Amino acid sequence: MSRVKDVVVLIGSGSIGQAIARRVGAGKHVVLGDLRQEAADKAAKILEDAGFETSTIAVDISSRDSILNLIEHAKKFGEIKHLINAAGVSPSQAPVEKILQVDLYGTAVLLEEFGKVIADGGSGVMISSQSGHRLGALNEDENYKLATYSPEELLNLDFIKAITDTLKAYQYSKRCNGLRVMYESTAWGKRGATINAISPGIIITPLANDELHGPRKDGYLKMIEASPAGRAGTPDEVAALAEHLMSENGRFISGADFLIDGGTTASYWFGDLQYLKKTH
Ligand SMILES: NC(=O)c1ccc[n+]([C@@H]2O[C@H](COP(=O)([O-])OP(=O)(O)OC[C@H]3O[C@@H](n4cnc5c(N)ncnc54)[C@H](O)[C@@H]3O)[C@@H](O)[C@H]2O)c1
Repeated sequence: MSRVKDVVVLIGSGSIGQAIARRVGAGKHVVLGDLRQEAADKAAKILEDAGFETSTIAVDISSRDSILNLIEHAKKFGEIKHLINAAGVSPSQAPVEKILQVDLYGTAVLLEEFGKVIADGGSGVMISSQSGHRLGALNEDENYKLATYSPEELLNLDFIKAITDTLKAYQYSKRCNGLRVMYESTAWGKRGATINAISPGIIITPLANDELHGPRKDGYLKMIEASPAGRAGTPDEVAALAEHLMSENGRFISGADFLIDGGTTASYWFGDLQYLKKTH
């Protein structure tokens, strides 16, 4: 009979999610979830060939029922010790409503539902984005509502319903991710678990690589070259940070949002990248 193992749940089986799963998944059961079953299956094949035990499931984080179904699947293998959310849609991939449904609402439901089942000593990371750090300051009322209102109420907030462009929808969603993580960390803490957000800059994944070779490539390259690091990041660098947050060394860290962007956000507000304020 196979032994009961700790379970790692990864949602969004792309490059960033896989890199994190490789760092925290050894000796555990790794559940790979994705909207596209084939993406989960592809990641499972790579991980199985590298010695990891996996199972796959199709999940749509914009549906609470789908998230609950994922949790039931994961619980069959043991206690849920780690949650990695690397699912999301970018401003060029989807219309406003879809971005809000997945990146804002979906992340909020995930935090709430996994916060009810996460194991003692467990940990989670939500992959947010530097984009959330490019919104100007929100007022106290907006911050409070984004942090604490129920996921369903979030979509009905006046200032969310007023969003008409996809970049703003993405920025608000990602800002909300950091605030939700802060709010939900209090519930996760009562279960002996930590939860944090990671906000990456440009990370080379198949998606970013398409942009770097597509029609907007000149703007992208200029932004990367003018950034303090002078280069894009890699999924493995994001995974190294996630590993720290999810390890024993990270037990004193919870409810926080970590920028990992090669200094791009600093430069956007105060340095050579201020020209982006007109467009981003
Ligand atoms: N790559 C970057 O430069 C970068 C920068 C900042 C933030 N991010 C964030 O990192 C996360 C992962 O991005 P990536 O670059 O690995 O992209 P990716 O497209 O490789 O991975 C995202 C995955 O999410 C899945 N997904 C989309 N909608 C879903 C849904 N409703 N339910 C479940 N799964 C869904 C997709 O099928 C895809 O496999 C995203 O949240 C993205 O916003 C990426």
